[in-house]
Amino acid sequence: MNVVVVGMGYVGSVCSACFASRGHHVVGVDTSEFKVACIERGESPIVEKGLSELIATARREGRLNATTAIASAVPAADIVLVCVGTPSAEDGSLDLTHVKRACAEVGRALKGTGRFTTVVMRSTMLPGSVLSELTPVLEQACGGRAGVDFGVAYNPEFLREGTAVDDFFGADYTIVGAGCERSAAALRELYDGVGGELIVTAIPTAEMVKYVNNSFHALKVAFANEVGRLCKRESIDSHEVMRLVCRDTKLNISPVYLSPGFAFGGSCLPKDLRAIHSRSRHHGLELPVIGNVMRSNDLHVEEAVHLIERFRRRRLGFLGLSFKAGTDDLRESPILRVIGTLVGKGYGVLLHDPNIDMERVLGANRRFVEDEVPYLPERLRGDLDQVLAESEVVVVGNRSREYREIGPRLRSGQVLVDLVAAVDRSTVTAGEYHGLAW
Ligand SMILES: NC(=O)c1ccc[n+]([C@@H]2O[C@H](COP(=O)([O-])OP(=O)(O)OC[C@H]3O[C@@H](n4cnc5c(N)ncnc54)[C@H](O)[C@@H]3O)[C@@H](O)[C@H]2O)c1
Repeated sequence: MNVVVVGMGYVGSVCSACFASRGHHVVGVDTSEFKVACIERGESPIVEKGLSELIATARREGRLNATTAIASAVPAADIVLVCVGTPSAEDGSLDLTHVKRACAEVGRALKGTGRFTTVVMRSTMLPGSVLSELTPVLEQACGGRAGVDFGVAYNPEFLREGTAVDDFFGADYTIVGAGCERSAAALRELYDGVGGELIVTAIPTAEMVKYVNNSFHALKVAFANEVGRLCKRESIDSHEVMRLVCRDTKLNISPVYLSPGFAFGGSCLPKDLRAIHSRSRHHGLELPVIGNVMRSNDLHVEEAVHLIERFRRRRLGFLGLSFKAGTDDLRESPILRVIGTLVGKGYGVLLHDPNIDMERVLGANRRFVEDEVPYLPERLRGDLDQVLAESEVVVVGNRSREYREIGPRLRSGQVLVDLVAAVDRSTVTAGEYHGLAW
């Protein structure tokens, strides 16, 4: 394919050389004459392992050129990859000035070519940037419509400096947010044989994945470093601890616990977080990531209360009281905090849980009910149908099997608030479905 790469910095020079090595014809564009001259001499404008060799070979074989003249490069392109910088503005917000300017130049160069070129943003930008801010710039500059006269896509860049070339060839997956099928097809052709599985999704999803990936990487670094600081105070080998943590690929390094749902609770996580936080304070040590996890969890409980109150209905039915399905352990179940708040505000509340039978709630669990949720016994109903019939808002609080299937049983006007992503929203035909964070 004929590929134009706008911006020959860390991202642009690596993808130019890598795509050229795959047999594509690449023209790199940059405003910096120095970078353009470097590429034209067959040298890398940046220090990056393996890049000099790739650029030298691509130049020798006539598949890589560079220029400062965007207007001459773009008209022959099947694909334009925009890789210019998106720095932080003074207030921390994202500065799209360079990328907007680059899009205006690309758009002007596309005007009247009669060719369907796909413009692919690779720079990191917040969700909404491509569709709301850059597509209009392109449309205005070229006088055409996205999806009709030219294509728009977002292809986030996941390469790490220092191992960027290896990352390019060994990627697990390539994410493509595509505005139309022709753009998706162009990117499939570009990546044919490299980049792992190519996954096509909506443009804002692709934009968001980039930020979530980087936030997650940053969170992991900060978390491991907090573990290290605490272990050092305790004279424990932090590397051995984290090696063992990472050895568990069932619960730790896995998708488990990484799906948006309701707040955590139960008899272990809150108690253990409090204990480790208290131990760190004893050392005079601040661990803001670990120490603020409970705060984040509390805010999620508050979010559930706000969502339920938003519907301004007084009769509420809660399905699922224990912190997860398949247990009758009510201790620190976060749904009880939601219920307690709403009972306190005078809402009419009925409760159901297939595993809770007051006759059989014993020991610490019984004491917890008597002390913390004294309203529970008189509001608990054994009959799910009765709770459904008498509630204006039905709140699903755990993933018990019978709750997953209540979608078709809702009546018109009834609201379902799903706190745990238990119910398939397409099965809710008569009522309204609302997820907590989805
Ligand atoms: N560096 C990384 O490892 C990395 C990884 C993933 C994503 N990103 C993202 O990719 C984008 C680019 O990052 P980078 O590190 O390559 O930036 P960079 O600053 O190294 O390179 C940007 C290049 O764009 C050029 N440029 C600016 N405006 C131009 C224009 N109108 N026409 C032509 N050239 C223009 C600049 O001269 C510069 O050479 C950013 O959004 C960044 O957040 C970077």
